[in-house]
Amino acid sequence: MLLSIPRLPWRLAVPLLAAFVSVPFVLPLALPLLLRSSSSGSSTSSAVTSRALSLHRLSWLPSPLIRTAPTVSPPRAPSSPPPVPSAPPKPLMQQTTPPSPPPPPPPRPAPSPPSAPPKPLMQMPHSPPPQPQKPPPETTVDGDNNAGGTGTGACDVYDGEWVRDEEARPLYAPGTCPYVDEAYACAANGRPDSGYTRWRWAPRRCSLPRFNATDFLERLRGKRLMLVGDSMNRNQFESMLCILREALPDKARMFETHGYRISKGRGYFVFKFADYDCTVEFVRSHFLVREGVRFNRQRNSNPILQIDRIDKTMSRWKKADVLVFNTGHWWTHGKTARGKNYYKEGDTLYPQFDSTEAYRRALRTWARWIDKNMDPARSVVFYRGYSTAHFRGGDWDSGGSCNGETEPTFKGAIIDSYPLKMRIVEEAVRRMWFPVRLLNVTSLTNFRRDGHPSVYGKAGDKKVSKRKQDCSHWCLPGVPDAWNELIYASLVLESNPVAWKNR
Ligand SMILES: *[C@@H]1O[C@H](CO)[C@@H](O)[C@H](O)[C@H]1NC(C)=O
Ligand SMILES: *[C@@H]1O[C@H](CO)[C@@H](O)[C@H](O)[C@H]1NC(C)=O
Repeated sequence: MLLSIPRLPWRLAVPLLAAFVSVPFVLPLALPLLLRSSSSGSSTSSAVTSRALSLHRLSWLPSPLIRTAPTVSPPRAPSSPPPVPSAPPKPLMQQTTPPSPPPPPPPRPAPSPPSAPPKPLMQMPHSPPPQPQKPPPETTVDGDNNAGGTGTGACDVYDGEWVRDEEARPLYAPGTCPYVDEAYACAANGRPDSGYTRWRWAPRRCSLPRFNATDFLERLRGKRLMLVGDSMNRNQFESMLCILREALPDKARMFETHGYRISKGRGYFVFKFADYDCTVEFVRSHFLVREGVRFNRQRNSNPILQIDRIDKTMSRWKKADVLVFNTGHWWTHGKTARGKNYYKEGDTLYPQFDSTEAYRRALRTWARWIDKNMDPARSVVFYRGYSTAHFRGGDWDSGGSCNGETEPTFKGAIIDSYPLKMRIVEEAVRRMWFPVRLLNVTSLTNFRRDGHPSVYGKAGDKKVSKRKQDCSHWCLPGVPDAWNELIYASLVLESNPVAWKNR
């Protein structure tokens, strides 16, 4: 805390101090000069860093792709979102706000922009040159072993394909991990096929380090890994617990510190891995910005969303060493999509506001908060991109379905779709000073129409109505395991915070 005080005032402090001591009559003349020189002088070092960072960022955030979306947000059709938070099973209770069903409109086919220039090789987010040589010990050789053609070894790990791997997948046997909650426990709920658990994501031009849960835990030793977001992130969180659990000879060496069982009703979980002195945590935050309520004249309470204020769970975020954020699915339906007397900025409650624009501003609020409060020398921050939903023949709430899919899809419009919301994420991240690592999983999830719970989101005789399937979340084991493997790969391949070096 002491540290944070100087942060803002610091740059001003030097010149101001100088101004104070200087002869008063010189002050009016000198101040502008002092200010100017301080901003170029005092920030010499930080300027260097930020310059380096932004150059760096260019290498992995292809700016040409990022066309700023028109401020006039378009109708939400194109944003094709992904979906939803637990559609069917959804009684997500949110304290203040009434549970809004999640799902979004899947009109997904957002034709991918013609852009994509010679595809700049994006490495895992930004891998600095420093690691050219440091191949994670075990690099699987699949296909042409590494080499993104540029000789730099850089490679877009999100450009690739799903390959069948009967030997090494799944990373944990279906039905064996106690941390998968009912909504994602497809095998236990009676899903008969298991092919969907046997795919591994394989980049086209390089290989991912072979997944090693023991090594992952070693890297997390003494640290806090926290996933913050909606139920899609809880889905990913459960996957994380399960893949790490496999490394423990004694499974009782991990436990929820308060003794809680995972359920959608609770918004915070902390799992401790005793032998590694590390925790894996989940913090529910549907929007990343602050939810609230207002009272109208009849004293009825109504939910509002303050898009210029960060969510109040942020006090927890600050304590993490590795953060994984997401938001998106809650922006596409119900009150959020309608935007009537819902969005608030400063003291203004907008009678009507476009949800895409609100999403853009909320992400900027999040980005500013990260820039201001997180230190790249201590923490790693990921933003996990949109996870695709696959409703056919309707929407999540109008009979859309995905049951009976047993194979990924390899062609079709959905394969090329890249939602507007992701462009907004890229735009926000690109402007940041903090080097956020974007888990660009949208397109890899596009293939996986076979990975959703569909009608297997409930146990036993509790039947999920065929008309309310879950084609948004993912069965576990399944697709989120691959996202977590990408997090592992990023920790292996990219230089980590300097504060981690001497562990
Ligand atoms: C996994 O990582 C651990 C710890 O770094 C190491 O001892 C082990 O050999 C690795 N396993 C494989 C199969 O590479
Ligand atoms: C993420 O992947 C999409 C393709 O699915 C691509 O168009 C986009 O440029 C990628 N974003 C970044 C930051 O690399």
